[in-house]
Amino acid sequence: MVIKKICCIGAGYVGGPTCSVIALKCPDIEVTVVDKSSERIQQWNSNKLPIYEPGLYEVVLKCRDKNLFFSTNINKAITEADLIFISVNTPTKLNGNGKGRAADLKYVEGAARMIADIAQSNKIVVEKSTVPVKAAESILRILRANHKKGVKFQILSNPEFLSEGTAIDNLINADRVLIGGEESEGGQQAIKELSWVYEHWIPAEKIITTNTWSSELSKLAANAFLASRISNINSLSAVCEATGADISEVANAVGKDSRIGSKFLQASIGFGGSCFQKDILNLVYICECLNLPEVASYWQQVIDLNEYQKTRFTKKIVELLFNTVSDKKLAILGFAFKKDTGDTRESPAIYVAKTLLDEGAKLHIYDPKVEATQILDDLTHPSFTPDPEGVRKAIEIYDDPYQATAGTHAVVICTEWDEFIGLDYEEIYSNMMKPAFIFDGRKILNHDKLANIGFFVHTVGKQTVYKAVNGF
Ligand code: NAI
Repeated sequence: MVIKKICCIGAGYVGGPTCSVIALKCPDIEVTVVDKSSERIQQWNSNKLPIYEPGLYEVVLKCRDKNLFFSTNINKAITEADLIFISVNTPTKLNGNGKGRAADLKYVEGAARMIADIAQSNKIVVEKSTVPVKAAESILRILRANHKKGVKFQILSNPEFLSEGTAIDNLINADRVLIGGEESEGGQQAIKELSWVYEHWIPAEKIITTNTWSSELSKLAANAFLASRISNINSLSAVCEATGADISEVANAVGKDSRIGSKFLQASIGFGGSCFQKDILNLVYICECLNLPEVASYWQQVIDLNEYQKTRFTKKIVELLFNTVSDKKLAILGFAFKKDTGDTRESPAIYVAKTLLDEGAKLHIYDPKVEATQILDDLTHPSFTPDPEGVRKAIEIYDDPYQATAGTHAVVICTEWDEFIGLDYEEIYSNMMKPAFIFDGRKILNHDKLANIGFFVHTVGKQTVYKAVNGF
């Protein structure tokens, strides 16, 4: 079979950008992205896409309504497709067995049942969502137990390695594409067909093929390795703050070792995003189920250290602000979990805001890409507070960083947006309460310069700096 039509179930952070790039690079293939949320599909078909991702809008504009379609007609898209990506969300389970750790596969299962129900011809079903090891086997059992007579399915694992904020570049210049499939003849043929799609732009030597389980585990392993590097460097940042060593100097010296490398060695207030925590918790749960408690507790430490880092940073804010932030105005600059995305899922800013609100602070929040409604939703969610009205009264959301910082006691940088580096800190200082504090949770600012202006500066992995000014 030559793939002529692709359907992608799930028009989220993965399904949207991935299929846009496939459409861009494969003009001979018609790609339809479907979602059960009509609002999301409407946004994909508008000038304001539901997600912010540098370069994405341009790609969508080039392909939309030519060979790229966004639709709620799931039935039609599945019926016509030769190959179907499942790109639905796989959040951590909130209830029942494995609550708080295992991946909730209800959306994946829902998608599989839908495919079995609708499909009237053979399909290659590709698991793109991040799933526990052996999930493909479960999907296949569901598909084969419910299929229409004569319809055959092949299931592949093709985990996505894109990183939000750089998704388009990651997709176009992928380090590798991983495809796992059954060792049977049919499985190998399906692998070849999906490889052919990627070979439109990815060099063949970068397309790795494995068995299904290796592919599923590799995705969890990659995220566990990446997150553990962040926890490694963050753990040492605490040692630096206690000793006078500087974590940037340590990271530079360590990263120069070619066996270690310099990437992902940036100390910060901790990692966020929808994947790292969820995928490691999932790995921990799998290890527990496999009766490998030592392995489970090893990876659990990566999460625990991340929690410790967020707590440590927030405690320091309260401590330096004379042990109370009650009724003090604090500016939170950045709410997204990282720069160049509007995604706030598991953003450390949410934790920082919660702790400061619990301590009685008033928050002025500014983020260049996160919508005010999203910030309000995050901070008034029942899992966040029993008193949403109280939270609403304690926060103000701004669309200008200068207004957000005016009249505040402290500026807290929670996201490493480039625009924060170029702000006029003399002006910000002149409009703040004194003494004025900056807490740089991302290590992006010039701390000596800020101290010269008169700020007290606290950052991660370095002792607090300030210069005596005005006799202070
Ligand atoms: P998302 O939450 O942004 O998008 C998922 C979409 O699937 C939603 O729009 C939802 O309405 C839709 N959906 C769920 N069930 C459906 C159904 N039965 N029919 C139609 N639509 C349905 O999730 P995101 O971030 O795109 O993640 C998807 C998967 O990719 C997850 O497993 C995630 O772990 C993985 N992943 C995410 C990355 C990221 O950076 N966000 C990177 C790599 C992998």
